[in-house]
Amino acid sequence: MAQDVAQARIAVVGAGLMGHGIAQVFALAGHEVTITDTVMKNLDTVISRIAANLRDLGDDPLAISRVRPCVDLAEAVREADYVVEAVSEDLPLKQKLFANIERHVRPDTILASNTSVIPITAIMQGLNRRERALGTHWWNPPFLVPLVEVIETQWTEPELIAWTMNLHRAAGKKPAHVKKDVAGFIGNRLQHALWREAISLVENGICDAATVDAVIKASFGRRLAVLGPLENADLVGTDLTLAIHNTVLPAIDSRPAASPYLQKLVADGKLGFKTGEGFRKWSAEEQAALRAKVMAHLKASRNS
Ligand SMILES: NC(=O)c1ccc[n+]([C@@H]2O[C@H](COP(=O)([O-])OP(=O)(O)OC[C@H]3O[C@@H](n4cnc5c(N)ncnc54)[C@H](O)[C@@H]3O)[C@@H](O)[C@H]2O)c1
Repeated sequence: MAQDVAQARIAVVGAGLMGHGIAQVFALAGHEVTITDTVMKNLDTVISRIAANLRDLGDDPLAISRVRPCVDLAEAVREADYVVEAVSEDLPLKQKLFANIERHVRPDTILASNTSVIPITAIMQGLNRRERALGTHWWNPPFLVPLVEVIETQWTEPELIAWTMNLHRAAGKKPAHVKKDVAGFIGNRLQHALWREAISLVENGICDAATVDAVIKASFGRRLAVLGPLENADLVGTDLTLAIHNTVLPAIDSRPAASPYLQKLVADGKLGFKTGEGFRKWSAEEQAALRAKVMAHLKASRNS
């Protein structure tokens, strides 16, 4: 393994939405990056997708010269100090893939999964060298959202966590150490606690979906980028927070399962943007406008 993070050779497995963006970030930070995918269309377009992103962001176009697409998995990972997997969110697929990757890497290569919510322990348990395995959960798009959660399992060597945190920090990311390997890690547990209550408010007729989103965007959503909930609790006082929790927590949703309302939307084929209707109806123009608004917002806050 390269002791100096700056020298680390990176392999990215999966050239989809996340994989191409992760490759872009490491290449821009000066790393030699290989990338592989089993779907040739995705591998064939990876260079042009990264080049378009670099152009759009005004980043160094020469970074693309450090990205090498490889058809063969073995070739992609053979020389790597660090392998990050970003294939589809499918546990058996990820387990099989890591068993295969392990056959082709050096014994000291670090193996990381970018799973959104699956415990890293479940993915890596069958490996021979699971002490070299960990999680790195990036957020979409990887080149605009700063956080990378670095997930430690019961087997991970602690110095590899420090090395991986440094690798991502040097690439301009904000790594956060997740000390216990729990489903959803930190970010998605928090995000989906909010989504559960958002859905529950609609399900119980308290307001419609547009109102839930409007309330968040016009209130604490405004502050969230600069004021986390625990900073906020200290700001207003833990005593006030306790009084609020004593009244509100018994009233809010605590069901340990997906809401029947959400299940019915899916059963009815109301899948959101991809079918034109989910919690709300979405025309093609409205979808494009919302996507553009999110990208403009993330670009504007890129360096903050
Ligand atoms: N999309 C997000 O917002 C997001 C955010 C954080 C984490 N993630 C996680 O990142 C991972 C990838 O998500 P995505 O959105 O990039 O998906 P995606 O569908 O865009 O890309 C997945 C890629 O993996 C490829 N692939 C499938 N099997 C493969 C294999 N055996 N070997 C090599 N390549 C293979 C597919 O061809 C595809 O190109 C998932 O685990 C997902 O949960 C996604």
